[in-house]
Amino acid sequence: MTNYIALVGKKGPALDESCGYYGERLVLKAQELGLNTCWVAMTYSKVKTAYTVEKGEKLCIVIALGYSAAQGVPHNSKKLPEVAKTEGQMPEWFQKGIEAALLAPTAMNQQKFSFALNGDKVSVKAGTGLYTKIDLGIVKYHFELGAGREQFTWA
Ligand SMILES: Cc1cc2nc3c(=O)[nH]c(=O)nc-3n(C[C@H](O)[C@H](O)[C@H](O)COP(=O)(O)O)c2cc1C
Repeated sequence: MTNYIALVGKKGPALDESCGYYGERLVLKAQELGLNTCWVAMTYSKVKTAYTVEKGEKLCIVIALGYSAAQGVPHNSKKLPEVAKTEGQMPEWFQKGIEAALLAPTAMNQQKFSFALNGDKVSVKAGTGLYTKIDLGIVKYHFELGAGREQFTWA
């Protein structure tokens, strides 16, 4: 693919997660419109003239965009209990959130995140490794879609 969206923002501790969160909104919208996408952190050649990075900003990641030769196939996925903990019974909305989170792409498809529920507060931790903060933003957006934003607040 030769078209891509460059995600550029202010350097700082929040950049990766924000790019994941808002980038995944673009990814799902593109897919809805019949396009195909792929998050790409490493395996691309930069065309420096194609985007601008102001002082104090950073290119976080890109999303390749276009019509692919073949549609994607579901990735291997962890099972719900491997990534989620609740005290007592798991509410249906929480389960739906986790199911949506497990469908999310992650950098090495390692799904290194873990969710926990406490009252109506949901917390989620990123694992260690490359790009796990970007993954975290992506996964949080999926969780919100699956669970319904009105059901909970982020801890
Ligand atoms: C943050 C992030 C970075 C990625 N970087 C690359 C990359 O550099 N090269 C690549 O081929 N795929 C990359 N991917 C794609 C993942 O390998 C892929 O999404 C994952 O294996 C899950 O497969 P799926 O997207 O088909 O569900 C990246 C995905 C994410 C979320």
